[in-house]
Amino acid sequence: MKLAKKCSEKKVLRDPIHGYIHIQYEVIWDLLHTREVQRLRRIHQLGGNFHVYHTAEHSRFAHSLGVYEIVNRIVHEVEDVQRALNEKERIVAMCAGLLHDLGHGPFSHFYELIMHRSHEQVTIEIITDPSSQVHQVLDSYDKDLSGQIAAILSHTHPVNILNQIISSQLDADRMDYLLRDAYETGTSYGTFDLERILRTMRVCDDQMCVKESGIHSVEDYIMARYHMYWQVYLHPDAKAFELLIWMFYRRYAQIREVVDLPSAKLLDEPFDLDNFYMLDEYRLYSIVQDAAQCPDLYLSDLALRILDRRLFGWIEDPDEKELSEIHTELAERKLPADLYYHEEYSHSSMYLPYKEEDEKNAVYVLDPHGKIYRLSEKSEIVKALMKMETKTRRMVYFAKKRSRFERI
Ligand code: NI
Repeated sequence: MKLAKKCSEKKVLRDPIHGYIHIQYEVIWDLLHTREVQRLRRIHQLGGNFHVYHTAEHSRFAHSLGVYEIVNRIVHEVEDVQRALNEKERIVAMCAGLLHDLGHGPFSHFYELIMHRSHEQVTIEIITDPSSQVHQVLDSYDKDLSGQIAAILSHTHPVNILNQIISSQLDADRMDYLLRDAYETGTSYGTFDLERILRTMRVCDDQMCVKESGIHSVEDYIMARYHMYWQVYLHPDAKAFELLIWMFYRRYAQIREVVDLPSAKLLDEPFDLDNFYMLDEYRLYSIVQDAAQCPDLYLSDLALRILDRRLFGWIEDPDEKELSEIHTELAERKLPADLYYHEEYSHSSMYLPYKEEDEKNAVYVLDPHGKIYRLSEKSEIVKALMKMETKTRRMVYFAKKRSRFERI
């Protein structure tokens, strides 16, 4: 089987989270050197979060390698999994780990909004597109490989544990990003005991689960998610930065017919993979740099706010007096509300660190008698978390009072 061909020498890449990333199969090494995978070096893993945590500059490339390594360990070190899968299935899972985030555009959510497609869709398009380098590498090893990986990434692979290893409540993706994001932001709450989780992982009836003695490490992992959501992923300043990018695009869209900004033409094109490869965060920043010089007052102002990190301010559940002060200030400075003001409601239930909506997305615990239970039946902490009250808050973002560097 060509797919099982090993590298002449095992490759090892240093990594701050896993110590080393180990690459033994040639197909993985070849995938690593494709245009689509290398492009992930130019996309931040945490979008605009480096404006909140100044060291959070790590890329989706590093995260993808980390997910690959965790999958590599699960399929080789967890004995039940190794037994349940044949060699081809193990390699397919490792490829899926490496490729699972290919479809992220610049500042992921922003790109999804302007192109009207999710990064999951784009990932599958790339893997199945005959002209992509990733597809060509996969095809050269095994014609059926790209279809199998696409099935895992859309959660429809007939071997259920393959889907679960890549995407579930306790999957390689989340385990890597939590540890990596915690490390790169310097947030100690995000860490948990990966070794212990791997050591207690089992397979029971085509279902991934953890031994009862592993419950504490899983609880710790879920608490890590809880803290990382509130401290990092949902930080209002990160949202404020992404809003600036969005407002910049909105202004551009208002004046695209008249403004002379050739580099931004890429934003006008309908989605296709060639444009997708060109539009990374470096390119987006160069459009912003160009726009900073353009004669349109609002577009250049928003561009400078992005470059100089003059973020919007924000208030949670503002009262009438606060709101009217904001609107008066905007009106006095002639700053249009559609570009300098935004409000939204956020519901904490959307960000629960653990949900058990149906059997498919629960974490399962294997008791000493070989019976499996949902995590919430065995863990008091998780039970309490799931009963957490749902809070709704109204968030208002706005251009702050004029600073000495603002022209308008
Ligand atoms: Ni990911």
